Amino acid sequence: MSKVTVVGAGNVGATCANVLVTSQIADEVVLLDIKEGVSEGKAMDIMQAANILGLNSRLVGVTNDYAKTEGSDVVVITSGIPRKPGMTREELIGVNAGIVRSVTENILAHSPNAIIVCVSNPMDTMTYLIHRVTKLPRNRIIGMGGALDSARFKFYLSEALGANINEVEGIVIGGHGDTTMIPLKRYAAYRGIPASTLMPAEQLDKVAADTMVGGATLTKLLGTSAWYAPGAAAAQVVAAVIGDQKKMLPCSALLEGEYGEKDLCIGVPCILGRNGIEKVVEFDLNEEEKALFAASAAAVHKTNAALA
Ligand code: NAI
Ligand code: 2OP
Repeated sequence: MSKVTVVGAGNVGATCANVLVTSQIADEVVLLDIKEGVSEGKAMDIMQAANILGLNSRLVGVTNDYAKTEGSDVVVITSGIPRKPGMTREELIGVNAGIVRSVTENILAHSPNAIIVCVSNPMDTMTYLIHRVTKLPRNRIIGMGGALDSARFKFYLSEALGANINEVEGIVIGGHGDTTMIPLKRYAAYRGIPASTLMPAEQLDKVAADTMVGGATLTKLLGTSAWYAPGAAAAQVVAAVIGDQKKMLPCSALLEGEYGEKDLCIGVPCILGRNGIEKVVEFDLNEEEKALFAASAAAVHKTNAALA
């Protein structure tokens, strides 16, 4: 039996819960929000959809009742405010740090062994904050950003190549920010064929640039930040943990010297399994990538410094 709690029944949290139920990733899902009735309503709606789809999952919605989250294997934190058009993720730090801190304390009081997946923005800094608050080993805290950014990279690559989206490869490392993420153009591929040999350099540069502002593009169109892919990406991370998949996904992990960095959480390829981040995969970056990674880490450190 697997139990997953999703904190925050807003756009991202409810979408994550919906994917957890409809893809039958967890046996039992609890959706918790501070707003009276919202999580209960969304849970009922999702369960009624599950019935139409012939699924037998269990999802309950609760208003701030952490007792119901007892014994969760994985907890996804999506509570907090999202950005509005023109805002950066970093501008959310003041409000979201207070929310993430109190949610984390409540969660661990009832599920002391849970693996925590942080989604709230600025995500790398919120993931680092959870480490600071809990002092848990690094495998237990996973920041979700790279899975989403890589999906956006693959989307723009497939569009540029006119290819099926699941036949392209692309990975994004670094911070989850418009200027800090690093779409690795060198490793972008179409069925193993380097994308750099299939399109002009300027076109691949544009794919990478579009990826970096992929979240901002959607925020401008939608008036708030995106939720379908973010919710699905969070569920993908949960599935890798619950299913002990040993899946490699870029996630924000506490670095302990890897890539020449420590004392920060930033996106790197991770092997995810039942113990959370079971391995940080280190590979050789070229000089240009090393410089981008160092600059990204410096920017994340700067945001972390704003934590009280
Ligand atoms: P939303 O506003 O739709 O939902 C947030 C929910 O959190 C609201 O329902 C609110 O009532 C709830 N909440 C606030 N304080 C709470 C508390 N103390 N306890 C429980 N629930 C609480 O926002 P949305 O679009 O779902 O985004 C959520 C967060 O995820 C934002 O910080 C956003 O920036 C971030 N995000 C991160 C992504 C990533 O890749 N890491 C991608 C997309 C969004
Ligand atoms: C996104 O990338 C804003 O982090 C959010 O859509």
